[in-house]
Amino acid sequence: MKDEEVNTVVACDASAIGEGQALKVELNGLQIALFNIGGEFFALNDRCSHGNASMSEGYVEDDFTVECPLHSARFCVRTGVPQCQPATERIATYPITIVDGKVCVTLEPTP
Ligand code: FES
Repeated sequence: MKDEEVNTVVACDASAIGEGQALKVELNGLQIALFNIGGEFFALNDRCSHGNASMSEGYVEDDFTVECPLHSARFCVRTGVPQCQPATERIATYPITIVDGKVCVTLEPTP
């Protein structure tokens, strides 16, 4: 079995996250924020790179960003790159696949 298969885990049913919604899950001890934007799914580390905030409690925007609930930094959900201050560091993102209606997350951060 390849490493990638070992590290890919089922997070939830895709139907559990409505469009424009977020869901926090714990996978192998990692807190992950899952997002559904326009029917596409994304996974970020749940902790903001700027402070102790949960990105799953942030504001999901149609332009594929999420705004931190604490100090309003916005991050691209595809890359985790901050789009504005006060955050300056990227948040780790994780590859997602949808298999039989399940959201599966590969627990190796995207480089
Ligand atoms: S904790 Fe997220 S922007 Fe400060």
